[in-house]
Amino acid sequence: MEHLIWVIKRLKNYYHYILLALFGVVLESVSTAGISLMVKKLVDEGMLLRSWEGLTFGTLLLLGLALAQQLGNFLVSYYTNAYAEKEAKELRGLVFEKLLRSSFLSVRGYSLGEYTTRVLSDLKLYRDLIGSSVVKLVRDPATVLLLFGVLLYRDWKLTLTLLALLPIIALSVEYFGRKKGKHLRRSQESLEKLINKLGDVFRGYESIKTLPAQELLFGWFRDINEKAYRAGLRMALYSSFNSTFNFTVGYLATALLLFYGGLKVLEGSLTFGELASYLTALMLIQMPLVEAQKGIVEVRASLLVVQRLRQVLDLEEEMEKGVEFVGLKEGINVQRLSVSIDGRDILKGVSFSIRKGERVAVMGSTGSGKSTLLRVLCGFVPYEGQVYYDEKELREINLGTLRSKIAYLSQESFVLSGTVRENLLIANPNATEEEMWEALRLSACHFVESLDEIVDKESRMLSGGESQRLALARLFLKKPQVLLLDEATSALDAQTESFVLKNLFEKFPETTFIVVAHRFSNILASERALVLKDGELIFDGEPKRAIEVFLSEDLQVDAF
Ligand SMILES: Nc1ncnc2c1ncn2[C@@H]1O[C@H](COP(=O)(O)OP(=O)(O)O)[C@@H](O)[C@H]1O
Ligand SMILES: [Mg+2]
Repeated sequence: MEHLIWVIKRLKNYYHYILLALFGVVLESVSTAGISLMVKKLVDEGMLLRSWEGLTFGTLLLLGLALAQQLGNFLVSYYTNAYAEKEAKELRGLVFEKLLRSSFLSVRGYSLGEYTTRVLSDLKLYRDLIGSSVVKLVRDPATVLLLFGVLLYRDWKLTLTLLALLPIIALSVEYFGRKKGKHLRRSQESLEKLINKLGDVFRGYESIKTLPAQELLFGWFRDINEKAYRAGLRMALYSSFNSTFNFTVGYLATALLLFYGGLKVLEGSLTFGELASYLTALMLIQMPLVEAQKGIVEVRASLLVVQRLRQVLDLEEEMEKGVEFVGLKEGINVQRLSVSIDGRDILKGVSFSIRKGERVAVMGSTGSGKSTLLRVLCGFVPYEGQVYYDEKELREINLGTLRSKIAYLSQESFVLSGTVRENLLIANPNATEEEMWEALRLSACHFVESLDEIVDKESRMLSGGESQRLALARLFLKKPQVLLLDEATSALDAQTESFVLKNLFEKFPETTFIVVAHRFSNILASERALVLKDGELIFDGEPKRAIEVFLSEDLQVDAF
């Protein structure tokens, strides 16, 4: 119910389209009812009385009503689809924006498959829902009511017996709606998993082929595929069954009424024209009745899709407020920083401070919390304790302005599928060609021959080291005040790595560097080093000493 209210609230924005569609609804349903009424005139006055005038007039009237009905039908069909398309466009935009605005942790809660299914498939279902629901839930019931009025007018006793069908219709709505909803959910969930598996194959092509994983993956894929198939089949079964059920009930009712009405004509209490009008109304009522019932069933099932869309639209967003970050003057001060995610303590009371322009290395074995520390400094991860940029606590700083002045580069170098130029411009849209070539030179991107060359990581056109170099080139264009490098040079050979780092240090002498690195040469090139172990800071000081501490800790791990 809550989801239905949400849908109605959203549709308020398209009220002018909806009004036009509703006008079409009135035109169409009134004309349909008019047709069934006018049949009596045509039969009794035109045909039975053999009146030319009555026949011509009656036929023309019916034709006029039919044309009005079709005009109504056009208005309904066009304007409901028009606002449905508009709303779909609107929501696609919202869902995409949401992905960028949401907090790091809330987006991490979704896989690509789950998100894609919501953006594409769920949205398509939602579009169909709002596109056809007005027709099925407004026009068809309106037509049913008017035709029911005609039936009552012609013979109320006969018609009231029709009401005996209502409980049967209600039960079928409940039953089919529940069944279809259940299988729709299964089908969408299978789709999410299928997309994830496809993604796995694209990302891990070489590993999958060289591990004995191929058969296993085929097997998993087959299972999910089978589930998707079964859910689809079940939905088809219940849809078809629903239609058949409705029409069977309809024909049974018609047969009974035909028999009963025939008796009354024989008795003389009903004219031929009245019976013809009655039967026309009865014929005309079947389709909208069936559609209205199906409409309720579909809305009931599709509200689940609305729920899934709303989960994404309700993702927690990053805060846009806070004071502007104008630049680092003194330094960064971290006090008793703790991070726990899903009940696991990842950083435990870490305290240190870094002067502006200082170059600090961060060491620690895998899983010790190095990446988490850097993510906290960018404002991606909620934490306890304090992180000060100069006097200002990170929670009070506007994250957009902070991130425009700092740069973060992770090991999984991010390369857009597009040209080299596009990949560089995302760091600084105003960069000139000369600046771009200079950045490429400083980050050792010898492999780039033209700025308009297409690069695409997924298609393996770049090696791991080449992607990292291209990502590093962006740093030279952004001119950051704080530079956070998280194993961002790990795929480079030692010589290239020190070449690029030296260039960064020389180009940005004022910039504060925090570099997660494993190569001792890089650590020795820093002024200071921090060593993390299981989320705790166990050393803060001279790089040479840090390496000793790290090695002795490492030996302990080996001994264990
Ligand atoms: N978003 C997350 N959800 C759950 N656990 C996480 C998340 N991010 C990191 N962790 C866990 O925190 C620990 C530290 O991770 P990380 O900071 O990436 O370590 P490092 O970079 O030192 O290898 C790891 O055990 C990792 O599994
Ligand atoms: Mg890491």
